[in-house]
Parts: sequence; structure tokens; C-alpha cells
Amino acid sequence: MRIFSCHRWGAWLLAALAFQAPAQDFPNRSITMVMPYAAGGPGDTITRVFAGAMQKHLGQQIVVDNTAGASGSIGTAKVARSKPDGYTLLMIHVSHATNTAMYKSLPYHPVDDFEPIGRATSGPMLIATRNDFPVKNLQEFVDHVKANGPKVSLAHAGVGSASHLCGLMMMNALNVKLNEIPYKGTGPALTDLMGGQVDVLCDQTSGTVPSVKTGKIKAVASAGKTRLSQLPDVPAMSEAGVEGFEINISFGLYAPKGTPKPVMDKLTAALQKSVSDPEVRQRLEAMGISAVSADLARPEALRAHLKNEIDTLGGLLIKAGVKAN
Ligand code: MLT
Repeated sequence: MRIFSCHRWGAWLLAALAFQAPAQDFPNRSITMVMPYAAGGPGDTITRVFAGAMQKHLGQQIVVDNTAGASGSIGTAKVARSKPDGYTLLMIHVSHATNTAMYKSLPYHPVDDFEPIGRATSGPMLIATRNDFPVKNLQEFVDHVKANGPKVSLAHAGVGSASHLCGLMMMNALNVKLNEIPYKGTGPALTDLMGGQVDVLCDQTSGTVPSVKTGKIKAVASAGKTRLSQLPDVPAMSEAGVEGFEINISFGLYAPKGTPKPVMDKLTAALQKSVSDPEVRQRLEAMGISAVSADLARPEALRAHLKNEIDTLGGLLIKAGVKAN
């Protein structure tokens, strides 16, 4: 009887160790970080900064996977149904909150199907036009848009995206309806803005500021109450008397629900080291983006931030009667 019980305990111990082993060995191969918008946009830029920083701390390569479409919900669904082992992550922003309000049936739940790792960045947005758009300053822009409405094309990355939210807030504030042109990300949208195929784009500064500085697009105003430190001569929308219009975009990192806690702890630790990395902070600040403080690069902070965005921005879109399908 004694020999049998030793064997049984031994089997249980081996089983327990076998279950724990993957978590303790994590990571022992490359990790995929899904960015649910097209390459070349602000989300892609921010994801690559963190993939590069976190792989140093985790000791394994992090490969960025741009699975775009349907306002980020295709890439998000891909992560929700992936194996919860820490090797597939999601870097996403406000559309994780707004898609719930925009789509009648999403193949995932933004809270129930994910484990929050932590917040990564926050940053302002800039309204810009193609270079030959017939306005010379903010007041002329406001007057032109109000006078021409649907004749003016507004690019964005899909219903509920940051660029769409900013465009929606601008249309609400100016009481005007523009001709919306959706893209799979504001990388391709910016290309069309530079090419003159579309008139206006409101995007995160990591996408727009470099193109303004190289003269490829024309800055109109920062989307809020304060000017951008990178473009001190560009006014804020509030300076044209446009009130009730302030938007700031935060990115956060998620893993699929059920990812083991020891794995989550390692991912959170690597994110916290990355947001505290002077090189990361400097690269982001050059684009007008701020890495969050380490105490926000934690699950509780991201969970609270997501809940707040679902309650506020989701509500704004529902009130505006915006639906994706
Ligand atoms: C958006 O929400 O507009 C996206 O962040 C754009 C992008 O990253 O391509």
C-alpha cells in the first residue's frame, strides 16, 4: 500500500510540475504582439517601440503582427481565441472599448476574454489637411468645413477608432457632417492625405507630427485645449472657440484570458521596465507621446482605464447614433 501511495503522489507531483513548467520556463520561444491596425500608423509605431524594448527584458524576440480590419476587431478576436500561454499578446487603445458599442456582435468580450498586462502610453491628437487644402489658418478651416460639409472628406481608421472618435468630436463640435473615408489604419490614410486624395485627418501625433515637420501635410490644430509641445505655433481647437473637444489616446497591452499568473507577472515586469526605459521615453516624446509611469503599467490600472473608456467613450458613440454593423 505504501509503495502504491508513493507512486500516486509521484504522479501527481509530476503532473503539477508539468503544468507549472511552461510558466516557469516562459518565455522559451518568440512572442507575437498583435497590432490590430495596418503597418505605418501610430499604433504600429508604438507597438514596435514596446516590442523592441520588452524583448530585451524577456530575452526572446517579439514579432509584431499587423492583423488589421473592422476597426481593430479582427486582430483583437485573433488574440482572444489564441492559446493563453503568453506567446500571443494584443497592443490596443480606445477601440478595445468603443468596438463593444459599435458592433452588435463581436466574437469576443473586451473584459471577459482578456487579461490586462498594463497601460503603455498616452498621447494627444492633431488635425491636419492635405497641403493644398484651401485654408491658411484654424479660423479659415472652421469656416470652410462648416460651409462645405459633405464635400470635405475625412479619413479615419474605421468606426470607433481613435481617428474616427476625433473626427466625430470635431463634427459634433462644429455641427457639421463630413464625408467619412475609412481605412485599415491611419498609415494608409496618411499616405492618401500626403497624396491629396483625401482632405482631413485627425490622428495621434506619432503619425502626424513627423509629416507636418517634413512639410508633407498641413497642421490645423491640436485636438484639445492645449497646444502640442512639438508644434508650438499650431493653435488648439479651443482657440477657435471650439469647446467640448478634448481627446487623448492611451495604448495598453493584453493577453488572452487564462494566461497563467507567473507568465502575466513576467509580462507586466517587462512592460514596467520598458515604460521606465529612458530610451523608450525619449523615442516616444519625440513623437509627442508619453510612456505611462511604472505604477500604471500594471493590470489594475489598465482594467480601470478600460472600464472608464467603455463607460464614457462607448456612451458618446451610442449617443451619436454611430453603429458599425
Ligand atoms: C486609430 O485608432 O486611428 C488607429 O490608431 C490608427 C492606426 O494606428 O493606424
